[in-house]
Parts: sequence; structure tokens; C-alpha cells
Amino acid sequence: MSEPTRRPVLFSGIQPSGSIHLGNYMSAMRSFLRLESDYDCLFSIVDLHALTVRQEPATLRRNSLELAALYIAAGLNPERSIIYCQSHVPQHAELAWILNCFTYMGELSRMTQFKDKARQHKDNINAGLFTYPVLMAADILLYQTDVVPVGADQKQHLEIARDIALRFNAIHPGTFKVPEPDIQEETAKIQSLSDPMKKMSKSDQEDSFVAVLDSPDVIARKFRRAVTDSETEIRYDPENKPGVSNLLTILSVLGGEDMESLVSRLAGHGYGELKQEAAEVTIETFKPIQQRFRELISDKDYMAKTLQNNAERARTLAGRTLRRVYKKLGLYQP
Ligand code: TYM
Repeated sequence: MSEPTRRPVLFSGIQPSGSIHLGNYMSAMRSFLRLESDYDCLFSIVDLHALTVRQEPATLRRNSLELAALYIAAGLNPERSIIYCQSHVPQHAELAWILNCFTYMGELSRMTQFKDKARQHKDNINAGLFTYPVLMAADILLYQTDVVPVGADQKQHLEIARDIALRFNAIHPGTFKVPEPDIQEETAKIQSLSDPMKKMSKSDQEDSFVAVLDSPDVIARKFRRAVTDSETEIRYDPENKPGVSNLLTILSVLGGEDMESLVSRLAGHGYGELKQEAAEVTIETFKPIQQRFRELISDKDYMAKTLQNNAERARTLAGRTLRRVYKKLGLYQP
């Protein structure tokens, strides 16, 4: 990142709060791979965000390391991009505090993800769940980020990050870059296999999502059981045929076949074949990632060193922005 030919900055994060699934892979990881060579990238394991719902410590620790290994196994380069745990860079929490003082209760209470999570976790509607988008704004603004590739469910959080940056800059000009979201329409919202009216989610029951680390048998079984509809026609129509359209999206994107030719190729075939093809292409996509993942996860030293080095690089960059913010605000810095 300190090279003289500075590229624009890309930041994104994934929570280590469960199994990384096909939705995360299709909208987030694939975009990271597509954009990695054009940007100076930071890919974070956002472990502090995961604390907004109760986590079992040993599971959180394992999920964090596994997510780091998955980023690398998927093809991201930790020598070039910065792959690191959010909690290793204290500036995230420090900037989040400052940005809390520039964020209104009213705008946070409009966040649909807060409303959903508060409904799901009635016994633990903590303040962290409420200020979650502020920590996310801090993640992004710390690195003077230009672009943030995410799925559709993060759009509102990106908007608030931009609003906070603009508000801060209006009082203290030239502090933050105002980031742009990168949301790819076709993969922005991969639906649950068991309830195609809902998005695929790590926190739902096992059969509703395909995990990147699921075995071929499990992947095949989950696709076989995917909910479709009572018709027989294979047609792309997300409004009326959400289950079939979701399977078509998965097959078309992972198989690299455009939707129109895919639908005409499958005309007259049954849903069973659609499910089988979707399962096969998913298995093929994940096979090399799983193989590389197994090598990485058994090399504990390499993983630990890589995460330590990368966190160090992130701290250097984050420190620059935070010092600038403290100075602008008038916090005494001897
Ligand atoms: P998370 O961990 O829920 O999801 C990681 C990424 O996957 C996308 N995604 C999906 N895309 C398509 N279909 C789905 N069913 C689906 N489910 C999840 C998400 O949009 C996301 O891009 N708040 C974020 C993590 C975060 C972050 C950030 C992201 C923290 N700080 C800064 C970007 C920038 C989250 O919970 O993602």
C-alpha cells in the first residue's frame, strides 16, 4: 500500500459468526477476486461485529481462523491485499466511538437489519446491535476507502456510512473519502434453499444454506431438497418463481452461462435436473477452495504469521486516519 503508484482502496468484511455460505461467496468473495488486482484491498474478518449476538468463544475463535483461511483459499493474495481480524486493529473501535458522536439515534433506528435482529434476539437487544452500522462506517472510513463490494442486505449500512462521512466532512473538511458501494445485481441476494422468499443466512437452519466447506454429498442433498414450486416449467421469474429463479441464478453465475441460453437449454427438463446441475457446479466451484483450505488450516504457523503481519500493515494505515481525525477534533496530541 505504500507503493508510489497508489491504487484506489477497496474495503470489505465478513462476520465470522457461522459457516460462510454460497450467498457470501457469490456476492462478496467473487467480487473480491474480480476487483483485487485493480485496488489496494483490505478484507477483514469482522469479529467485533460478531459480538453483537452471543458467541461461544471457542467457536468464534475457530470461525475467525477458518474465515481467514477461506479468504486465501478462495484465491485472495495476503502478500498484496491485507487480510486481517478487525479486533487486531484497535483503531476500528476508537474511530467508532468518535463516529457515534456524529450519528443520530433516529437514523440508527431506521436500519432494517437492526429491526430484524432485535426481533430475532428479543432477550439481547444490546447497544452494540444498535450502533453496529457505526462500527461498520469506522471500518470503511479508516482506510479512506473508495469502493465497498457487498450484497444487497448491506446497502442501507453503506448509505449511513456515506452520510456520516459527509456530515463529518461538512464540519471538518477533507477528513474522509466518501465510499461507493459495489453491489452486483445478479448475485446481490441469493435466497434460502428451504424458504426462497428469504435471503440465505448463516444464522438460519442448516438445510437453508450451502456452506463453502460442505462435502459434495451434503451439497447434493441440500440442493435435492431445495424448495421450488408446484409447477413444472423452468423459467426465470423471481417474483412468481423465487425457488427456481434462485437455482437458475446459481447455475448461471457459477457455470458462466448467460441466463437466456441456460433457460432455453433447460426448456422441457424437470426441476430435478436443474437441482442436480446447480449442485454439480457448486461442488466443482468449491472443490479447489476446500483442498487449499485444508492445507492452510493445518499450517497454523503460516496462518498466525500472515494474520499478524497483515494486522500490522492495517494498523499503520488506520493510525494515519485516526491521527488526522483526532487533530481535526481538537483532541490534545503532544
Ligand atoms: P455478512 O457477514 O452478513 O455477509 C458477508 C457478505 O455477504 C453478503 N451476503 C449475501 N449476499 C448475497 N446473498 C445473500 N444471501 C447474502 N448474505 C450475505 C453480505 O452482503 C456481505 O457483503 N455487516 C457486514 C460485515 C461488515 C462489512 C463492513 C462489510 C462489517 N463491516 C464493512 C463491508 C464493509 C455483514 O454482516 O456481512
